[in-house]
Amino acid sequence: MPYEVLARKWRPQLFEEVIGQEHITQTLKNALLSDRLAHAYLFSGARGVGKTSVARILAKALNCRNGQEANPCNKCTSCIEITNGSSVDVQEIDGASNRGIDEIRNLRENIRYLPSHGGYRIYIIDEVHMLTLPAFNALLKTLEEPPEHVKFIFATTEPHKVPVTILSRCQRFDFRRIPILKLQEQIKRIMEKEGIRVSDSGISIISREAQGSLRDAESILDQVVSFTGPDVADDQIRAVLGVIDRDIIFKTSRAIIDGDSRLCLEIIEEIYNYGYDIKAFYREIVGQFRNLIVSLISQDPSQILDLPDNELSETKKQASHAGVERLLQSLNFLINREVDLRYTNNPRIALEAILLKLSRLIEYLSFDELIKKIEDIEKRLNRPALTQPNRNLEAALSEKGYPAEETQPKEGKDLKEDSGEATLPEPVKHIVDIFEGKIVSRD
Ligand SMILES: Nc1ncnc2c1ncn2[C@@H]1O[C@H](COP(=O)(O)OP(=O)(O)OP(=O)(O)O)[C@@H](O)[C@H]1O
Ligand SMILES: [Mg+2]
Ligand SMILES: [Zn+2]
Repeated sequence: MPYEVLARKWRPQLFEEVIGQEHITQTLKNALLSDRLAHAYLFSGARGVGKTSVARILAKALNCRNGQEANPCNKCTSCIEITNGSSVDVQEIDGASNRGIDEIRNLRENIRYLPSHGGYRIYIIDEVHMLTLPAFNALLKTLEEPPEHVKFIFATTEPHKVPVTILSRCQRFDFRRIPILKLQEQIKRIMEKEGIRVSDSGISIISREAQGSLRDAESILDQVVSFTGPDVADDQIRAVLGVIDRDIIFKTSRAIIDGDSRLCLEIIEEIYNYGYDIKAFYREIVGQFRNLIVSLISQDPSQILDLPDNELSETKKQASHAGVERLLQSLNFLINREVDLRYTNNPRIALEAILLKLSRLIEYLSFDELIKKIEDIEKRLNRPALTQPNRNLEAALSEKGYPAEETQPKEGKDLKEDSGEATLPEPVKHIVDIFEGKIVSRD
Protein backbone atom coordinates (compact mmCIF):
# COMPACT_ATOMS: atom_id res chain seq x y z
CA MET A 1 0.00 0.00 0.00
CA PRO A 2 1.41 3.42 -0.86
CA TYR A 3 2.47 5.55 2.09
CA GLU A 4 -0.24 7.90 3.19
CA VAL A 5 0.94 11.10 4.82
CA LEU A 6 -0.09 11.51 8.45
CA ALA A 7 -2.18 14.61 7.80
CA ARG A 8 -4.46 12.67 5.43
CA LYS A 9 -4.48 9.49 7.39
CA TRP A 10 -5.46 11.37 10.52
CA ARG A 11 -8.14 13.58 9.05
CA PRO A 12 -10.99 13.67 11.59
CA GLN A 13 -14.16 11.93 10.40
CA LEU A 14 -16.46 12.77 13.31
CA PHE A 15 -17.16 16.07 15.05
CA GLU A 16 -15.69 14.63 18.26
CA GLU A 17 -12.38 13.92 16.56
CA VAL A 18 -11.83 17.56 15.70
CA ILE A 19 -9.41 18.99 18.22
CA GLY A 20 -9.52 22.43 19.76
CA GLN A 21 -12.61 23.67 17.86
CA GLU A 22 -15.32 22.55 20.25
CA HIS A 23 -17.02 25.97 20.09
CA ILE A 24 -17.69 25.24 16.43
CA THR A 25 -18.38 21.52 16.37
CA GLN A 26 -20.85 21.76 19.26
CA THR A 27 -22.77 24.59 17.58
CA LEU A 28 -22.92 22.70 14.31
CA LYS A 29 -24.13 19.55 16.02
CA ASN A 30 -26.85 21.50 17.79
CA ALA A 31 -27.92 23.08 14.52
CA LEU A 32 -28.08 19.67 12.84
CA LEU A 33 -30.06 18.13 15.68
CA SER A 34 -32.55 20.96 15.85
CA ASP A 35 -32.63 21.32 12.07
CA ARG A 36 -31.75 24.98 12.22
CA LEU A 37 -29.21 25.18 9.49
CA ALA A 38 -27.90 28.22 7.69
CA HIS A 39 -27.71 28.33 3.89
CA ALA A 40 -24.12 29.42 3.92
CA TYR A 41 -21.26 28.99 6.35
CA LEU A 42 -17.94 30.75 6.39
CA PHE A 43 -15.07 28.97 8.10
CA SER A 44 -12.13 31.23 8.74
CA GLY A 45 -8.84 30.54 10.47
CA ALA A 46 -5.16 29.78 10.07
CA ARG A 47 -3.77 26.97 7.91
CA GLY A 48 -4.29 23.41 9.03
CA VAL A 49 -6.65 23.95 11.95
CA GLY A 50 -9.58 21.90 10.67
CA LYS A 51 -11.64 24.02 8.27
CA THR A 52 -11.77 21.57 5.38
CA SER A 53 -12.13 18.64 7.76
CA VAL A 54 -15.16 20.19 9.49
CA ALA A 55 -16.64 21.22 6.14
CA ARG A 56 -16.50 17.59 5.00
CA ILE A 57 -17.92 16.23 8.25
CA LEU A 58 -20.76 18.75 8.03
CA ALA A 59 -21.41 17.84 4.39
CA LYS A 60 -21.51 14.16 5.27
CA ALA A 61 -23.74 14.74 8.28
CA LEU A 62 -26.16 16.76 6.12
CA ASN A 63 -26.55 13.94 3.60
CA CYS A 64 -26.14 10.85 5.79
CA ARG A 65 -29.27 8.91 6.64
CA ASN A 66 -27.77 6.64 9.29
CA GLY A 67 -26.00 9.28 11.27
CA GLN A 68 -26.14 9.30 15.04
CA GLU A 69 -26.09 12.30 17.33
CA ALA A 70 -25.57 14.57 14.33
CA ASN A 71 -22.42 12.70 13.26
CA PRO A 72 -22.13 11.03 9.85
CA CYS A 73 -22.00 7.21 9.82
CA ASN A 74 -18.98 7.22 7.47
CA LYS A 75 -20.19 3.88 6.10
CA CYS A 76 -23.06 4.61 3.73
CA THR A 77 -22.52 5.30 0.02
CA SER A 78 -23.05 9.00 0.46
CA CYS A 79 -20.50 9.24 3.30
CA ILE A 80 -17.92 7.12 1.48
CA GLU A 81 -18.27 9.12 -1.74
CA ILE A 82 -17.82 12.38 0.11
CA THR A 83 -14.75 11.05 1.92
CA ASN A 84 -13.27 9.94 -1.42
CA GLY A 85 -14.15 13.17 -3.13
CA SER A 86 -16.29 11.37 -5.74
CA SER A 87 -19.73 12.57 -4.66
CA VAL A 88 -21.78 14.37 -7.30
CA ASP A 89 -23.75 16.21 -4.65
CA VAL A 90 -20.82 17.58 -2.72
CA GLN A 91 -18.37 19.58 -4.73
CA GLU A 92 -15.15 21.02 -3.49
CA ILE A 93 -14.04 24.01 -5.47
CA ASP A 94 -10.65 25.61 -5.07
CA GLY A 95 -11.32 29.34 -5.07
CA ALA A 96 -7.71 30.07 -5.97
CA SER A 97 -7.83 28.28 -9.32
CA ASN A 98 -11.52 28.90 -10.12
CA ARG A 99 -11.61 32.58 -9.45
CA GLY A 100 -13.57 33.95 -12.37
CA ILE A 101 -17.15 34.80 -13.20
CA ASP A 102 -17.43 31.85 -15.60
CA GLU A 103 -16.79 29.31 -12.87
CA ILE A 104 -19.41 30.92 -10.64
CA ARG A 105 -21.89 31.05 -13.55
CA ASN A 106 -21.33 27.32 -14.07
CA LEU A 107 -21.94 26.78 -10.42
CA ARG A 108 -25.19 28.70 -10.62
CA GLU A 109 -26.30 26.57 -13.55
CA ASN A 110 -25.51 23.43 -11.57
CA ILE A 111 -27.32 24.54 -8.50
CA ARG A 112 -30.68 24.11 -10.18
CA TYR A 113 -30.38 20.33 -10.30
CA LEU A 114 -31.73 18.42 -7.38
CA PRO A 115 -29.36 16.24 -5.36
CA SER A 116 -29.10 12.67 -6.64
CA HIS A 117 -29.94 10.85 -3.41
CA GLY A 118 -32.13 13.47 -1.78
CA GLY A 119 -30.47 15.56 0.89
CA TYR A 120 -28.52 18.59 -0.25
CA ARG A 121 -26.21 19.78 -2.96
CA ILE A 122 -23.28 21.17 -1.06
CA TYR A 123 -20.59 23.46 -2.41
CA ILE A 124 -17.39 23.78 -0.44
CA ILE A 125 -15.39 26.71 -1.78
CA ASP A 126 -11.89 26.78 -0.37
CA GLU A 127 -9.81 29.96 -0.27
CA VAL A 128 -12.96 31.84 -1.16
CA HIS A 129 -11.22 35.21 -0.71
CA MET A 130 -9.40 34.54 -4.00
CA LEU A 131 -12.56 35.01 -6.11
CA THR A 132 -12.67 38.04 -8.38
CA LEU A 133 -15.13 40.83 -7.70
CA PRO A 134 -17.46 39.88 -10.59
CA ALA A 135 -17.38 36.29 -9.31
CA PHE A 136 -18.34 37.50 -5.84
CA ASN A 137 -21.18 39.52 -7.32
CA ALA A 138 -22.49 36.49 -9.19
CA LEU A 139 -22.21 34.45 -6.03
CA LEU A 140 -24.04 37.10 -4.07
CA LYS A 141 -27.12 36.72 -6.27
CA THR A 142 -27.27 33.02 -5.40
CA LEU A 143 -26.72 33.70 -1.74
CA GLU A 144 -29.61 36.16 -1.73
CA GLU A 145 -32.09 33.54 -2.87
CA PRO A 146 -30.56 30.12 -2.43
CA PRO A 147 -32.64 27.11 -3.46
CA GLU A 148 -33.79 24.99 -0.51
CA HIS A 149 -31.62 22.04 -1.50
CA VAL A 150 -28.34 23.97 -1.63
CA LYS A 151 -25.77 24.67 1.08
CA PHE A 152 -22.54 26.61 0.81
CA ILE A 153 -19.49 26.19 2.97
CA PHE A 154 -16.78 28.75 2.34
CA ALA A 155 -13.33 28.41 3.85
CA THR A 156 -10.70 31.09 4.03
CA THR A 157 -7.48 31.97 5.77
CA GLU A 158 -8.10 35.66 5.01
CA PRO A 159 -11.68 36.58 5.93
CA HIS A 160 -10.92 40.32 5.73
CA LYS A 161 -10.64 39.91 1.95
CA VAL A 162 -14.18 38.58 1.63
CA PRO A 163 -16.67 41.36 0.76
CA VAL A 164 -19.03 42.30 3.61
CA THR A 165 -22.01 41.66 1.36
CA ILE A 166 -20.97 38.01 1.29
CA LEU A 167 -19.97 37.89 4.95
CA SER A 168 -23.32 39.23 6.06
CA ARG A 169 -25.09 36.36 4.32
CA CYS A 170 -23.06 33.66 5.99
CA GLN A 171 -22.97 32.19 9.42
CA ARG A 172 -19.37 32.69 10.37
CA PHE A 173 -17.14 30.42 12.44
CA ASP A 174 -13.64 31.44 13.43
CA PHE A 175 -11.34 28.47 13.84
CA ARG A 176 -8.70 28.90 16.51
CA ARG A 177 -5.08 27.98 16.51
CA ILE A 178 -4.82 24.75 18.44
CA PRO A 179 -3.30 25.19 21.93
CA ILE A 180 0.12 23.64 22.36
CA LEU A 181 -1.04 21.16 24.98
CA LYS A 182 -3.69 19.78 22.65
CA LEU A 183 -1.18 19.59 19.81
CA GLN A 184 1.12 17.63 22.08
CA GLU A 185 -1.63 15.23 23.11
CA GLN A 186 -2.59 14.56 19.52
CA ILE A 187 1.02 14.04 18.43
CA LYS A 188 1.41 11.53 21.25
CA ARG A 189 -1.73 9.71 20.18
CA ILE A 190 -0.53 9.55 16.58
CA MET A 191 2.94 8.36 17.62
CA GLU A 192 1.54 5.56 19.71
CA LYS A 193 -0.66 4.32 16.90
CA GLU A 194 2.09 4.69 14.30
CA GLY A 195 4.84 3.14 16.42
CA ILE A 196 6.98 6.27 16.42
CA ARG A 197 9.09 7.08 19.48
CA VAL A 198 9.85 10.71 20.36
CA SER A 199 10.70 12.12 23.78
CA ASP A 200 8.40 14.63 25.50
CA SER A 201 10.85 17.43 24.80
CA GLY A 202 10.94 16.34 21.16
CA ILE A 203 7.15 16.57 21.04
CA SER A 204 7.43 20.07 22.53
CA ILE A 205 9.79 21.15 19.77
CA ILE A 206 7.46 19.86 17.06
CA SER A 207 4.39 21.45 18.64
CA ARG A 208 6.09 24.78 19.05
CA GLU A 209 7.21 24.84 15.45
CA ALA A 210 3.70 24.01 14.27
CA GLN A 211 2.37 27.28 15.74
CA GLY A 212 -1.11 26.04 16.40
CA SER A 213 -1.55 24.13 13.15
CA LEU A 214 -2.16 20.42 13.52
CA ARG A 215 -1.45 19.80 9.89
CA ASP A 216 1.95 21.45 10.27
CA ALA A 217 2.66 19.33 13.35
CA GLU A 218 1.79 16.16 11.45
CA SER A 219 3.85 17.20 8.42
CA ILE A 220 6.84 17.94 10.62
CA LEU A 221 6.52 14.52 12.21
CA ASP A 222 6.37 12.94 8.74
CA GLN A 223 9.43 14.84 7.65
CA VAL A 224 11.43 13.93 10.73
CA VAL A 225 10.49 10.26 10.62
CA SER A 226 11.43 9.96 6.97
CA PHE A 227 14.87 11.20 7.99
CA THR A 228 15.34 9.19 11.18
CA GLY A 229 13.07 6.17 11.15
CA PRO A 230 10.72 5.43 14.04
CA ASP A 231 13.23 6.25 16.83
CA VAL A 232 13.59 9.99 16.84
CA ALA A 233 16.16 11.88 18.92
CA ASP A 234 15.66 15.54 19.87
CA ASP A 235 18.85 16.58 18.10
CA GLN A 236 17.60 15.03 14.89
CA ILE A 237 14.37 17.01 15.14
CA ARG A 238 16.32 20.22 15.62
CA ALA A 239 18.62 19.35 12.74
CA VAL A 240 15.74 18.67 10.36
CA LEU A 241 13.85 21.78 11.40
CA GLY A 242 16.86 24.04 11.85
CA VAL A 243 15.43 25.15 15.18
CA ILE A 244 17.50 26.59 17.91
CA ASP A 245 17.66 24.69 21.17
CA ARG A 246 15.33 26.38 23.65
CA ASP A 247 18.02 26.02 26.30
CA ILE A 248 20.20 28.39 24.28
CA ILE A 249 17.41 30.96 24.17
CA PHE A 250 16.99 30.77 27.94
CA LYS A 251 20.75 30.92 28.41
CA THR A 252 20.88 34.06 26.28
CA SER A 253 18.11 35.90 28.10
CA ARG A 254 19.73 34.92 31.40
CA ALA A 255 23.11 36.28 30.21
CA ILE A 256 21.51 39.54 29.09
CA ILE A 257 19.66 39.96 32.38
CA ASP A 258 22.81 39.16 34.37
CA GLY A 259 24.79 41.65 32.28
CA ASP A 260 27.17 38.89 31.25
CA SER A 261 28.55 40.28 27.98
CA ARG A 262 31.18 37.60 27.66
CA LEU A 263 28.62 34.81 27.78
CA CYS A 264 26.55 36.64 25.15
CA LEU A 265 29.56 36.57 22.81
CA GLU A 266 30.17 32.90 23.51
CA ILE A 267 26.57 32.04 22.72
CA ILE A 268 26.74 33.92 19.43
CA GLU A 269 29.93 32.02 18.58
CA GLU A 270 28.13 28.77 19.35
CA ILE A 271 25.05 29.45 17.25
CA TYR A 272 27.19 30.81 14.42
CA ASN A 273 29.33 27.68 14.33
CA TYR A 274 26.27 25.54 14.45
CA GLY A 275 25.00 27.23 11.32
CA TYR A 276 21.82 28.66 12.83
CA ASP A 277 20.21 31.57 11.08
CA ILE A 278 21.21 34.70 13.00
CA LYS A 279 18.00 36.54 12.12
CA ALA A 280 15.87 33.61 13.25
CA PHE A 281 17.82 33.58 16.50
CA TYR A 282 17.12 37.29 16.92
CA ARG A 283 13.41 36.72 16.44
CA GLU A 284 13.54 34.06 19.14
CA ILE A 285 15.24 36.47 21.54
CA VAL A 286 12.64 39.16 20.86
CA GLY A 287 9.93 36.56 21.49
CA GLN A 288 11.69 35.51 24.66
CA PHE A 289 11.64 39.04 26.11
CA ARG A 290 8.01 39.38 25.17
CA ASN A 291 7.33 36.12 27.03
CA LEU A 292 9.26 37.33 30.06
CA ILE A 293 7.15 40.49 30.21
CA VAL A 294 3.87 38.65 29.73
CA SER A 295 4.80 36.21 32.50
CA LEU A 296 5.20 39.14 34.90
CA ILE A 297 2.18 41.18 33.87
CA SER A 298 -0.48 38.63 32.99
CA GLN A 299 -2.66 37.13 35.70
CA ASP A 300 -2.67 33.79 33.96
CA PRO A 301 0.44 33.66 31.78
CA SER A 302 -0.07 30.01 30.86
CA GLN A 303 -3.16 31.06 28.88
CA ILE A 304 -1.28 33.57 26.75
CA LEU A 305 2.14 32.01 26.54
CA ASP A 306 1.36 28.47 25.51
CA LEU A 307 4.67 27.18 26.90
CA PRO A 308 5.40 23.78 28.38
CA ASP A 309 5.48 23.79 32.20
CA ASN A 310 9.24 23.66 32.62
CA GLU A 311 9.73 26.62 30.28
CA LEU A 312 6.97 28.60 31.94
CA SER A 313 8.52 28.29 35.38
CA GLU A 314 11.98 29.23 34.07
CA THR A 315 10.42 32.21 32.26
CA LYS A 316 8.78 33.41 35.44
CA LYS A 317 11.99 32.99 37.39
CA GLN A 318 14.06 35.04 34.96
CA ALA A 319 11.35 37.67 34.67
CA SER A 320 10.99 38.33 38.37
CA HIS A 321 14.77 38.49 38.65
CA ALA A 322 14.94 41.20 35.98
CA GLY A 323 11.84 43.24 36.87
CA VAL A 324 9.35 44.71 34.45
CA GLU A 325 11.16 47.99 33.74
CA ARG A 326 14.38 46.32 32.70
CA LEU A 327 12.47 43.89 30.52
CA LEU A 328 10.48 46.65 28.84
CA GLN A 329 13.64 48.62 28.16
CA SER A 330 15.29 45.53 26.75
CA LEU A 331 12.36 44.64 24.50
CA ASN A 332 12.11 48.22 23.30
CA PHE A 333 15.81 48.21 22.54
CA LEU A 334 15.60 44.92 20.65
CA ILE A 335 12.69 46.13 18.54
CA ASN A 336 14.43 49.39 17.71
CA ARG A 337 17.68 47.70 16.78
CA GLU A 338 16.11 45.09 14.52
CA VAL A 339 16.81 47.31 11.50
CA ASP A 340 20.54 46.98 12.20
CA LEU A 341 20.27 43.30 11.43
CA ARG A 342 17.96 43.70 8.51
CA TYR A 343 20.30 45.82 6.42
CA THR A 344 23.67 44.43 7.32
CA ASN A 345 25.93 42.16 5.31
CA ASN A 346 27.41 40.84 8.49
CA PRO A 347 24.59 39.82 10.81
CA ARG A 348 26.94 38.18 13.27
CA ILE A 349 28.78 41.42 14.06
CA ALA A 350 25.52 43.38 14.19
CA LEU A 351 24.11 40.81 16.62
CA GLU A 352 27.22 41.00 18.77
CA ALA A 353 26.97 44.78 18.95
CA ILE A 354 23.29 44.62 19.86
CA LEU A 355 23.64 41.98 22.56
CA LEU A 356 26.68 43.67 24.06
CA LYS A 357 24.79 46.92 24.43
CA LEU A 358 21.73 45.12 25.68
CA SER A 359 23.65 43.19 28.32
CA ARG A 360 24.96 46.52 29.56
CA LEU A 361 21.56 48.16 29.93
CA ILE A 362 21.91 47.18 33.56
CA GLU A 363 24.52 49.91 33.90
CA TYR A 364 22.00 52.54 32.99
CA LEU A 365 19.71 54.10 35.53
CA SER A 366 16.73 51.96 36.42
CA PHE A 367 13.33 53.53 36.02
CA ASP A 368 12.71 53.51 39.77
CA GLU A 369 15.97 55.27 40.36
CA LEU A 370 15.02 57.86 37.75
CA ILE A 371 11.66 58.49 39.37
CA LYS A 372 13.37 58.91 42.70
CA LYS A 373 15.87 61.41 41.33
CA ILE A 374 13.13 63.33 39.56
CA GLU A 375 11.18 63.47 42.80
CA ASP A 376 14.24 64.82 44.56
CA ILE A 377 14.54 67.56 41.98
CA GLU A 378 10.82 68.17 42.18
CA LYS A 379 11.15 68.67 45.87
CA ARG A 380 13.98 71.10 45.36
CA LEU A 381 12.07 73.01 42.71
CA ASN A 382 8.76 72.63 44.44
CA ARG A 383 7.14 72.10 41.03
CA PRO A 384 5.37 69.00 39.62
CA ALA A 385 7.99 68.19 37.04
CA LEU A 386 6.61 64.85 35.87
CA THR A 387 3.17 66.11 34.99
CA GLN A 388 4.42 69.07 32.97
CA PRO A 389 5.47 68.94 29.36
CA ASN A 390 9.24 69.12 28.78
CA ARG A 391 9.02 72.75 27.79
CA ASN A 392 7.53 73.73 31.15
CA LEU A 393 10.05 71.63 32.92
CA GLU A 394 12.83 73.36 31.12
CA ALA A 395 11.28 76.73 31.86
CA ALA A 396 10.88 75.76 35.51
CA LEU A 397 14.48 74.70 35.63
CA SER A 398 15.70 77.89 34.00
CA GLU A 399 13.70 79.94 36.44
CA LYS A 400 15.55 78.24 39.24
CA GLY A 401 18.82 79.09 37.58
CA TYR A 402 19.52 76.18 35.24
CA PRO A 403 20.77 78.55 33.77
CA ALA A 404 18.98 81.83 34.44
CA GLU A 405 19.76 83.67 31.17
CA GLU A 406 17.90 80.97 29.08
CA THR A 407 14.45 81.59 30.62
CA GLN A 408 13.09 83.29 27.47
CA PRO A 409 13.80 81.79 24.09
CA LYS A 410 15.80 84.06 21.89
CA GLU A 411 13.88 85.28 18.90
CA GLY A 412 14.03 83.17 15.78
CA LYS A 413 15.62 80.27 17.57
CA ASP A 414 14.16 76.99 18.56
CA LEU A 415 13.50 76.75 22.26
CA LYS A 416 14.87 73.28 22.61
CA GLU A 417 18.04 74.01 20.74
CA ASP A 418 18.41 77.19 22.70
CA SER A 419 17.85 75.96 26.22
CA GLY A 420 20.12 73.07 25.28
CA GLU A 421 19.69 69.54 26.54
CA ALA A 422 23.20 69.66 27.93
CA THR A 423 22.08 72.28 30.44
CA LEU A 424 19.51 69.92 31.98
CA PRO A 425 20.61 67.96 34.99
CA GLU A 426 21.66 64.44 34.02
CA PRO A 427 18.69 62.49 35.48
CA VAL A 428 16.16 64.83 33.85
CA LYS A 429 17.89 64.45 30.52
CA HIS A 430 17.62 60.72 30.97
CA ILE A 431 13.95 60.62 31.66
CA VAL A 432 13.21 62.99 28.79
CA ASP A 433 15.14 60.62 26.55
CA ILE A 434 13.24 57.65 27.83
CA PHE A 435 9.91 59.36 27.27
CA GLU A 436 10.99 60.19 23.76
CA GLY A 437 11.84 56.56 23.17
CA LYS A 438 15.57 56.93 23.16
CA ILE A 439 17.71 54.95 25.51
CA VAL A 440 20.94 56.71 26.10
CA SER A 441 24.09 55.40 27.65
CA ARG A 442 25.43 57.33 30.58
CA ASP A 443 28.98 56.85 29.42
N1 LIG B 1 -8.76 20.59 14.61
C1 LIG B 1 -8.19 19.48 14.12
N2 LIG B 1 -8.39 18.27 14.71
C2 LIG B 1 -7.80 17.16 14.24
N3 LIG B 1 -7.00 17.15 13.16
C3 LIG B 1 -6.77 18.30 12.52
C4 LIG B 1 -7.34 19.52 12.98
N4 LIG B 1 -6.94 20.52 12.18
C5 LIG B 1 -6.13 19.96 11.28
N5 LIG B 1 -6.02 18.63 11.48
C6 LIG B 1 -5.13 17.73 10.71
O1 LIG B 1 -4.61 18.48 9.63
C7 LIG B 1 -5.11 18.02 8.39
C8 LIG B 1 -5.56 19.20 7.55
O2 LIG B 1 -6.63 19.85 8.17
P1 LIG B 1 -7.68 20.71 7.32
O3 LIG B 1 -7.56 20.39 5.87
O4 LIG B 1 -9.00 20.53 7.95
O5 LIG B 1 -7.11 22.15 7.60
P2 LIG B 1 -7.62 23.54 6.99
O6 LIG B 1 -7.96 24.39 8.15
O7 LIG B 1 -8.65 23.33 5.96
O8 LIG B 1 -6.27 24.09 6.35
P3 LIG B 1 -6.08 25.01 5.02
O9 LIG B 1 -6.41 26.41 5.41
O10 LIG B 1 -4.62 24.87 4.74
O11 LIG B 1 -6.96 24.45 3.97
C9 LIG B 1 -6.25 17.09 8.74
O12 LIG B 1 -6.33 16.05 7.79
C10 LIG B 1 -5.85 16.57 10.11
O13 LIG B 1 -4.94 15.50 9.97
MG1 LIG C 1 -8.62 23.55 3.88
ZN1 LIG D 1 -23.45 7.93 6.23
